Amino acid sequence: MNVIELRELRFRWPGQARAVLAIPQLTLQAGEHVFLRGPSGSGKTTLLNLLAGILKPQQGELHLLGQPAHRLRAAARDRLRADHMGVIFQQFNLLPYLSLLDNVLLPCHFSARRRQQAGNVQASARHLLAHLQLEPALLQRSVTELSVGQQQRVAVARALIGRPELVIADEPTSALDADSRDRFLELLFHEADAQHSTILFVSHDARIARHFPRVLELNEVNQA
Ligand SMILES: Nc1ncnc2c1ncn2[C@@H]1O[C@H](COP(=O)(O)OP(=O)(O)OP(=O)(O)O)[C@@H](O)[C@H]1O
Ligand SMILES: [Mg+2]
Repeated sequence: MNVIELRELRFRWPGQARAVLAIPQLTLQAGEHVFLRGPSGSGKTTLLNLLAGILKPQQGELHLLGQPAHRLRAAARDRLRADHMGVIFQQFNLLPYLSLLDNVLLPCHFSARRRQQAGNVQASARHLLAHLQLEPALLQRSVTELSVGQQQRVAVARALIGRPELVIADEPTSALDADSRDRFLELLFHEADAQHSTILFVSHDARIARHFPRVLELNEVNQA
């Protein structure tokens, strides 16, 4: 099954003279790990926001898990994201007034499906956090007290809880040294594979490419 299928997709930011994205065709199949590389300003975050349903293309087709997202209203796109996608944002978007554990549980509050798939949500969150090497002693702490590397792992646990079919990650390794980056990717892949999640990972950092079986250059995919 195709998890993502784009056809003749165009997106232009309001007030801009030309489109930032014009992608004739792009397909990701279930279970794939795909790395999409592109320089700063090339449209990576814009593309992920389209895939997450936060933005809507002005032209073309965007099928997510067989659903025509380009024809759905914002509320339906939000539902699709909440039920089926784990998103690791460029700035993590962790909620500072919540504990580490409550940040991880958040998707289960917004989606009955994610809650159901997680089973015992508390146990599932603790399991993911343990596998991501975050100690139980940290779980009730505020996320503001965590290091950047720890915050990244919280963001991964939050993206993976409730077994979403698609995980999209926006440059989450940019603040890590090489060793931590490699370990972070190993943990992400291990947990995503255990639950058969497809991964689309974007970054400007070409050194990450060797960890992925499929590598795409945004400048080749994008004709804008
Ligand atoms: N909210 C916005 N309004 C108008 N233009 C925007 C907006 N967000 C991004 N852009 C423009 O779209 C283009 C692509 O931006 P985008 O953030 O997608 O790039 P990126 O590849 O994610 O860059 P980086 O590697 O720096 O994160 C840039 O030219 C940017 O100025
Ligand atoms: Mg970006």
